Amino acid sequence: MMRFASTRVVVVGGGGGIGSRIAERFIDEGARAIVLDLPRGDSSRESDAETEPARRILHCDLVDVASVEAAFAAARAELGGIDVLVNSAGILARGSLLDLTPERWDLVMDVNARGTLFAMQHAARAMIEQGTGGTIVNIASMAAKAGGADEGAYAASKAAVVGLTRAAALEWGEHQIRVNSLLPGYVLTDMGKDTRTDEDVATWSKKSPLGRLGTPDDVAGFALFLASTDGEYLTGQSFNVTGGMIMH
Ligand SMILES: NC(=O)c1ccc[n+]([C@@H]2O[C@H](COP(=O)([O-])OP(=O)(O)OC[C@H]3O[C@@H](n4cnc5c(N)ncnc54)[C@H](O)[C@@H]3O)[C@@H](O)[C@H]2O)c1
Repeated sequence: MMRFASTRVVVVGGGGGIGSRIAERFIDEGARAIVLDLPRGDSSRESDAETEPARRILHCDLVDVASVEAAFAAARAELGGIDVLVNSAGILARGSLLDLTPERWDLVMDVNARGTLFAMQHAARAMIEQGTGGTIVNIASMAAKAGGADEGAYAASKAAVVGLTRAAALEWGEHQIRVNSLLPGYVLTDMGKDTRTDEDVATWSKKSPLGRLGTPDDVAGFALFLASTDGEYLTGQSFNVTGGMIMH
């Protein structure tokens, strides 16, 4: 199926994990997609383009608002507009609330919450000027609802993403911009891999009635559904993608 022929897609955080799969699947279905992400090691935009010709990667650091503005301006110019934005960039900083420092709190909130806000703002401005509506999908987390021991800043930042999603849906609905969040449970990506043990994976898997963790495709499939015409009447919602780990 080519549901997204001629659709212009920006995936923030599409250089890794879930966002990478989302970008790939949009391209597979005909979209033109640009990824905004931190540079990978020594890789430049050109070398990324060589290895992944269909997926342009532009440098963007969500902590730096000027970098976000420049990256969106470049993406918009290259694509000729923006129809779909996916915010998948995020960081997880583990540590108890008692040990949480102002610096760690600021970093997690800047990337996960403030970064999502300004990415949405740039995309929405483009969509409003185009006058053709659009779709924004924010990747939040189950932690927005369930919290998370030793993940206080992360959980708060993801709850902020859910709140921003609702506010944006209310403010931009008149422009036919739909804004929704996905709340994944556990997905095996680079996120958290340094502290994740085989025992953790076994324990977390049992939390799902389906007995397994999520995959990037589980999240990507839902993101594409939301951006498609089948999702046309959905906005302001936060959908669990947890294999039933939470049901509220
Ligand atoms: N993996 C999970 O279990 C899980 C669960 C729930 C929610 N999520 C959320 O899904 C999203 C994707 O996570 P993932 O599992 O693919 O993780 P990941 O670490 O594989 O990918 C995250 C991406 O965000 C980018 N990024 C980080 N800081 C950035 C910054 N300052 N500026 C620009 N880009 C930045 C990284 O470079 C990376 O490409 C995140 O928002 C995460 O919080 C993940």
